[in-house]
Amino acid sequence: MVAGGAGGLGGVLARAFAERGARIALADIDGTRARKIAETLGAADGTGLGCALDVRKQTSCAGAVRRVVKRFGRLDVLINAVGIFSTAAAVDLDRRTWDATIATNLSGAFLIAQAAGRIMVKKKSGRIITIASVSSRVANPGYAAYAAAKAGVSQLTRVLALEWAPFGVTVNAVGPAMTPTPLTRELLADGERHAAALARIPLGRFGTPEDLIGVAVLLASDAGAFITGQTIFVDGGRTLD
Ligand SMILES: NC(=O)c1ccc[n+]([C@@H]2O[C@H](COP(=O)([O-])OP(=O)(O)OC[C@H]3O[C@@H](n4cnc5c(N)ncnc54)[C@H](O)[C@@H]3O)[C@@H](O)[C@H]2O)c1
Repeated sequence: MVAGGAGGLGGVLARAFAERGARIALADIDGTRARKIAETLGAADGTGLGCALDVRKQTSCAGAVRRVVKRFGRLDVLINAVGIFSTAAAVDLDRRTWDATIATNLSGAFLIAQAAGRIMVKKKSGRIITIASVSSRVANPGYAAYAAAKAGVSQLTRVLALEWAPFGVTVNAVGPAMTPTPLTRELLADGERHAAALARIPLGRFGTPEDLIGVAVLLASDAGAFITGQTIFVDGGRTLD
């Protein structure tokens, strides 16, 4: 199940897993787009499922997971690639933006992991992978809400990993660096900010959604069975300084 499957990173990860033979469910607040992408992913054997999901709501998370289990009879892997992003100087950051960022990026990460975890703990197996960010670790001016949420995701990942380890469920996060997607379009359209963001990545380029496929597949596969509680950065060296 790819939450945020209609997004730039989620869509590519869903396709990568489908290409490797996984049966895929895409869930997104944009349910129409999730359904449309799902149609292209499982059309041949009719296995793609697209549905609406609002990670800010516990009932929506439970409902989406229920639909997946009803359709496939199981839930093996949750990838959560939901997120919103905006920047503001802390002195100007309005309460609504702060609340919205925390609600989607942190509370939402908990609620969808909880809904999936309830199924996986019962089944005594499962993999949960949340897309965190380099902002789980590095500080950028203007990122107070986003970075607080993403740092929270990394620590949430550690606690869930510990709680669910006895049940054979691994919980990890992946931390990408700046990657051109709809999420970052506005920031990267600003020439100065584009150049500044690029200059901070030692390997000298932005990320691509495809950069995340290897780690996501690793964490979902037998090769990743002994990895839990980690935030693995796929960031061109962005978190090194
Ligand atoms: N693109 C980057 O540079 C970058 C870098 C680091 C981390 N990330 C993280 O990766 C994840 C995916 O980002 P992206 O670049 O693909 O962004 P995106 O905007 O392309 O995709 C995000 C998806 O989340 C969905 N969404 C938003 N609110 C939702 C909600 N309440 N419930 C369900 N779905 C909701 C959107 O409809 C969208 O499809 C996010 O968590 C983001 O913070 C992105």
